[in-house]
Amino acid sequence: MYAQMIKSEATQDDPEKLAAFQARIDAGEKIEPKDWMPEGYRKTLIRQIGQHAHSEIVGQLPEGNWITRAPTLERKAILLAKVQDEAGHGLYLYCAAETLGVSRDEITEMLLDGRMKYSSIFNYPTLNWADIGAVGWLVDGAAIMNQVPLQRTSFGPYSRAMIRICKEESFHQRQGYDAIRKMAEGTPEQKKMAQDALNRLWYPSLMMFGPSDKDSVHSAQSMAWKIKMNTNDELRQKFVDQTVPQAEYLGLTIPDPDLKWNEERGHYDYTDPDWSEFFDVIKGNGPCNVDRLAARNKAWDDGAWVRDGLLAHAKKKAARQHAAE
Ligand code: 3HC
Repeated sequence: MYAQMIKSEATQDDPEKLAAFQARIDAGEKIEPKDWMPEGYRKTLIRQIGQHAHSEIVGQLPEGNWITRAPTLERKAILLAKVQDEAGHGLYLYCAAETLGVSRDEITEMLLDGRMKYSSIFNYPTLNWADIGAVGWLVDGAAIMNQVPLQRTSFGPYSRAMIRICKEESFHQRQGYDAIRKMAEGTPEQKKMAQDALNRLWYPSLMMFGPSDKDSVHSAQSMAWKIKMNTNDELRQKFVDQTVPQAEYLGLTIPDPDLKWNEERGHYDYTDPDWSEFFDVIKGNGPCNVDRLAARNKAWDDGAWVRDGLLAHAKKKAARQHAAE
């Protein structure tokens, strides 16, 4: 429906302008906020950047939950820094979205009333410390796989935000791998926890890349506009290929009995996630959807007095300046 709306809006644009715009994209030029752009391009970016920003912010919840229970002071300091980084990523991305003519308040309200999404992965719980290692290893690992190509995305502010974000995400992935390695090399009980975390988070991590290419509504147009640089399945395959040897190094088993190296393709064959579960989660029916949105709504409501205060201060300052002129 949204895709249809975008398509019909795109076709309403002046064909000459559209052709010139596509030529700029094809030539690898960056599109900047004040440049002419098709309405569909603008809306697709707001949807993707907004969803990405919300994911960074909601993603703080499952990890923030473990800051007070980190096993050592060092792990606590690392986790605290990582969670703060995610807040920063959310802010860069909200700023990038604002250059497209939508305010942060507007897209936040769209998240809170269910009109916008955030990544499916954050609707799964983090039950113990091994999950925190697995989130860094798998979830941040999947995020980087998706985000490194986005550094070359066609919209300038998004591309520049991604360059900065990717530098921090690679630290996030490494700290997660280090935490899970410690568990995998620990007591039999700790190794069991690491394996259990991998068992529960493997398929939700594969789902992060979105539905299979045949069910992806937006990929074709987004790739033509270089908003996306790869299809969902291409990135998912790269993630599997990268992660299997990492699991082997840890002595852990990927929970997929049919996973095997395919010499001819030069890739691992793997079992797809249960797509009915994915669509159910993004509809709002995952294990933590209700809790996550309740937490975001509460934070938004609790912060109303700060936003009102800042706005009143800004208005007063502007009035004073106006009177002095
Ligand atoms: N979670 C929730 N919704 C998802 C999803 C996911 N993992 N994957 C796809 N969807 C939704 C899409 O938003 C779309 O719904 P909509 O039309 O209502 O918006 C629908 O499923 C169909 O999927 P498409 O493949 O057609 O959608 P896209 O072309 O937008 O591709 C995407 C989905 C690959 C996630 C793409 O939007 C993308 O690359 N986004 C930027 C990266 C991003 O958002 N990352 C969030 C990861 S978490 C993170 O970065 C935090 C870090 O700290 C770990």
